[in-house]
Amino acid sequence: MKKQTQEILKECLLHEKEGLDFYREAASRVTRERSRRALETLIAEEQGHIESLFSRYSGEEIGDVRSFLALPPHIESPLIKALETGLDPEIASRRVMELAMRLEEENRDTYRSLAAACNDPEIRTVYEKLARDEDRHYQIVESEYAHMMAMVHETDIDTYVRE
Ligand SMILES: [Fe+2]
Ligand SMILES: [Fe+2]
Repeated sequence: MKKQTQEILKECLLHEKEGLDFYREAASRVTRERSRRALETLIAEEQGHIESLFSRYSGEEIGDVRSFLALPPHIESPLIKALETGLDPEIASRRVMELAMRLEEENRDTYRSLAAACNDPEIRTVYEKLARDEDRHYQIVESEYAHMMAMVHETDIDTYVRE
């Protein structure tokens, strides 16, 4: 049982790291200041998730939290691959937010299921907190996406009025 909990924590850590790398990369792709700030908030929070999970993790094969956070992104990460390069900045920003919404929804659902299946009250509390955080992250990204789309829409209207 103990080993299984540790195995799950390790999987969560690897997954959180992939999300963190995605946000680090994504922050360099967006052009709007507002979007970058939202992504920077998420970077800090995902880092907090890693620290929180790490403090309950007793395995040694992924080193200490500092070196883990400093690892380069996994080259085969489907999330980072999906970002692509050379996209029009407008499309790139939209892609970032769409991928982020999907990621946060999946994370929220994963932590909810883990919490429901967890017998250890302390770890369950951790999963529940992470589920709430990921849900809040979803809201942050969704609101940024809505703002972005509204701006695009307004630009269209301006163009229309001018013509
Ligand atoms: Fe997270
Ligand atoms: Fe998140």
